[in-house]
Amino acid sequence: MVELKNTTATIKLNTGASIPVVGLGTWRSTEADDGYKAVRKALEVGYRHIDTAAIYQNEGQVGKAINDSGVPRNEIFVTTKLWCTQQHNPKEALEQSLKRLGLDYVDLYLMHWPVSLSPRTIKDGNLLTIPVREDGARDVEISDWNFIKTWELMQELPATGLTKAIGISNFSINNIKDLLASPGNKIVPAMNQVELHPLLPQQELIDFCHSKGIIIEAYSPLGSNNAPLLTQKTIIEVAKKNNVTPAQVVISWHVQRGYVVLPKSVNADRIVANLKTFTLSKEDFDAVSNISKVEGEKRIVVPDWSPFVPFV
Ligand code: A2P
Repeated sequence: MVELKNTTATIKLNTGASIPVVGLGTWRSTEADDGYKAVRKALEVGYRHIDTAAIYQNEGQVGKAINDSGVPRNEIFVTTKLWCTQQHNPKEALEQSLKRLGLDYVDLYLMHWPVSLSPRTIKDGNLLTIPVREDGARDVEISDWNFIKTWELMQELPATGLTKAIGISNFSINNIKDLLASPGNKIVPAMNQVELHPLLPQQELIDFCHSKGIIIEAYSPLGSNNAPLLTQKTIIEVAKKNNVTPAQVVISWHVQRGYVVLPKSVNADRIVANLKTFTLSKEDFDAVSNISKVEGEKRIVVPDWSPFVPFV
């Protein structure tokens, strides 16, 4: 029998701060008080890392749960993200996030996508949306703005104390190379949060980021909505063999690969179980790693940012 334990391990960021390797994802934890209840449960059972984003529309619930939890603020690692319509003014966006969260600072502020969206068609002032042009396409700013300009502005944020660290999300190797090579680059991102799971193992991206001192975080680690990976044959076999759940197999596989993993759940029992991981045998680890080689790779989160193509 394998030993399942609450995962308390941390990884050091290039800022010197420690980040817990298992964090609670909160994308789609928005309905009613789903986000509030999930974060309260998570903090109660031992999670010390909560991931949200302005566009998830749940910062209010998430922050309230953090504040109501009784866990000292400095024991919780909190991440939120800059939405694409606010890339021209990340400081203002972060201040708004903190107001919604009811927090004085976050531990990590990420550029959500390497894409800027023009807010010009937004009439009601709510920037947390996806503006579209008259032809129905997303209003992507391609000629007059880019992620390098956004990063230059984000680099001013750690000195304000509003965030302890800054990072990026959904960045490919080529886009990171461009960012690091830009003349205005002074800070190496602490983090790159990307879609990552057994059907999208991203080994090359992980190796590249680690070589630059950038930690990787896996979003949609179970395959996103409804966790399609948990009905995959090999994962079920490994789960049965070890007397654990399929989710525990997948989350443990992520942990063993040496990065941060952000399983999302609003279900109390799953929140408890998802923090408990074990060490896979080499045979089981290799079997899970092999799934994408047999079934082919599959990216699930592919928004249309044309003409910008993020994953090249
Ligand atoms: P729920 O929130 O109802 O638990 P990902 O982390 O890859 O984005 O996956 C999230 C999806 O996986 C959600 O549909 C979530 O549903 C479901 N999920 C999370 N943990 C488990 C688990 N332990 N077993 C089954 N499904 C899970």
